[in-house]
Amino acid sequence: MERPAVKHPIIVARDLTRLYQFGTTQVVGVDGIDLDIGDGEMVALKGNSGSGKSTLLALLAGLDRPTSGQLLVADQDLLKATEEDLTRFRREVIGMVFQSFNLLPTLTVAENVALPALLAGRKRQFVDRKALELLDWLNLSPRKDHRPAELSGGEMQRTAIARALINDPRIILADEPTGNLDSTNGQIVIGLLVRLNRELGRTVIIATHSTLVDPFATVELCIKDGVLEDTKCHEQV
Ligand SMILES: Nc1ncnc2c1ncn2[C@@H]1O[C@H](COP(=O)(O)OP(=O)(O)OP(=O)(O)O)[C@@H](O)[C@H]1O
Ligand SMILES: [Mg+2]
Repeated sequence: MERPAVKHPIIVARDLTRLYQFGTTQVVGVDGIDLDIGDGEMVALKGNSGSGKSTLLALLAGLDRPTSGQLLVADQDLLKATEEDLTRFRREVIGMVFQSFNLLPTLTVAENVALPALLAGRKRQFVDRKALELLDWLNLSPRKDHRPAELSGGEMQRTAIARALINDPRIILADEPTGNLDSTNGQIVIGLLVRLNRELGRTVIIATHSTLVDPFATVELCIKDGVLEDTKCHEQV
């Protein structure tokens, strides 16, 4: 079944395929994905373990390159992009949040949050102010000089969200963002991602086994063995 065309697409994929070569065998990451995501959607990406969710997010984020197909994200052709294009794209267009937080252990919370903006060449004064604003919004101001090891899981993930937002990305991609959190902190993190979508109009895609996102999702995608299904997911995890 053809998905209905969307009005203002921010993501367009055609026959998007990522195969992993594993010795002499090929492993399917994603296979022949056709996808149109409108600007401002809240997408829940569902599917069993190994179905291709992380592979798809890595392609959309410009962290990985497709084997074949077409992929346009925020008007950037990710198959034609040079390494330099991809670096700029990852820094300025995409905010990424991971299950394992991926904070740098030797930097403080404020330094972790500021880093992507400093790498993008923004002025120190501007970046420090913006980092403090974000930390305030996320109720993390009292933790700004702490190192990640001194934080709770929920605080680590909120730090990672602040870092993902420092360059004002149009798209936020979250890969199992509640996977390492208890249910209260999971709800807080999903609540923040929902506010980014509803109040700030960001396009948000969340790969998750959790049902926390379901009431807020404007689009639910189900992926099975690397292929997008037409029906909703009935997960076995
Ligand atoms: N770097 C890699 N090299 C080889 N195969 C890989 C690699 N990354 C993923 N795969 C394979 O691609 C398929 C899709 O994996 P992916 O990590 O995208 O699944 P997932 O839906 O994110 O699973 P989970 O819910 O467990 O996170 C799996 O069969 C996996 O083993
Ligand atoms: Mg995954």
